[in-house]
Amino acid sequence: MAFQHSRFDNAHEAAPISWGEAKLIKYLSGKSERLTLPSPAVVSLPVRPNNHNFFYHHLCQEICVLSPIALITVFMTLILPMQTVLGAQPTLREMAQQRGFYIGAAVAIPLLDDKDYQGTLKHQFNICVAENDFKMESLRPSRERFEFSTADKLAAFAQTNHLKLRGHTLVWHLAIPAWLTQGQWTRDDSLRIMEEHITTVMQHFKGKAYAWDVVNEAVSDQAPWGVRADGFWAKTIGPDYVEKAFEFARRADPQALLYYNDYGAEGAGPKADAVFQLLKDLKAKNLVDGVGWQSHLESGWKADKSHVVNAERLAKLGIEISITELDFRFTLPSTPEKLALQAGSYRSMLRFCLTQPNVKAMVLWGFTDKSSWIPHFYKGQGDALIFDRDYRPKPAYDALTDELLH
Ligand code: XIL
Repeated sequence: MAFQHSRFDNAHEAAPISWGEAKLIKYLSGKSERLTLPSPAVVSLPVRPNNHNFFYHHLCQEICVLSPIALITVFMTLILPMQTVLGAQPTLREMAQQRGFYIGAAVAIPLLDDKDYQGTLKHQFNICVAENDFKMESLRPSRERFEFSTADKLAAFAQTNHLKLRGHTLVWHLAIPAWLTQGQWTRDDSLRIMEEHITTVMQHFKGKAYAWDVVNEAVSDQAPWGVRADGFWAKTIGPDYVEKAFEFARRADPQALLYYNDYGAEGAGPKADAVFQLLKDLKAKNLVDGVGWQSHLESGWKADKSHVVNAERLAKLGIEISITELDFRFTLPSTPEKLALQAGSYRSMLRFCLTQPNVKAMVLWGFTDKSSWIPHFYKGQGDALIFDRDYRPKPAYDALTDELLH
């Protein structure tokens, strides 16, 4: 990835610079602005990753003419960039952390045994969620038995590596066990099963999962918009199953943030309005804290006014937003043009997130193209994530890090 850039204006000599150098320069300029350091003191330092003697010689010369306060500032400003020069590029996680933002990924827990998978996850992200293993189907082999061993692995991994953990998901009409769907239940039975599920799972992960997708995908995709009438929970309980689920969740862990999570409600339209109305009703009873915008989107997508308007009306309601399942799919095979278009979509989403104060996190639905649901669910499509199958960063990764530097 050796892009050609021209050096900054007051450079000592004009020479082609690498991608890493270009980022370093951007980082230096950004830092110097924030620290109000006289910028020539920083930007006049020649940075040559392949000639450290040259670098240190000039560094000493420059430092001699600086005041003590500027010296301390220069020292602090140079720690991270010097790591960069010596090969340690700041990761997505480090950059997000600096901005007080959370960038994360869904985890296929069995893959945590793969060193590359695990290494990429912990170095690049500061929040995670299980792709499948917190769903009822996984946690509840029978009515009597809960099985937490796989889910616990992710909770332990998150704790050890200081990643925040989202819980996904407590109540959904999909990924529920056959013993439940095939049984004969009264409304009261069904409510009791739901309550014992929510209570047991949330209490098990108390202090470990900071937020839960309490209800997933309850709003219909067609008229009449509102809570869908099909699906196990609506059929056995009725449409108030949503409110009941939030009541049980609030009681089970009053510290956890309670989210409603859905797709197709990110911008404008009847579904977004129906989700908004649901949130408004729940919020009036203090039963909800956030909304998850799944954001399984097509490459080429861009944030627009409708997303801003929706985010602002949610902010007024006191609802926080997380992008919970982001991916940008396209039709295979991949080409440089398609990857560039995809990078633009990732950049646009992150820019939107960073400029809306109530957007707290951006979580991808996976991170490596080696493991993604897209090829299984969208025929002929794939490569929707930011690392390729060999964990190499794609242009989308570069777009995200670049956006964080601005
Ligand atoms: C998907 C997983 O990625 C797949 O591995 C699984 O087979 C089906 O579920 N919306 C959601 C997620 O809320 O839970 C879904 O995850 C993707 C769509």
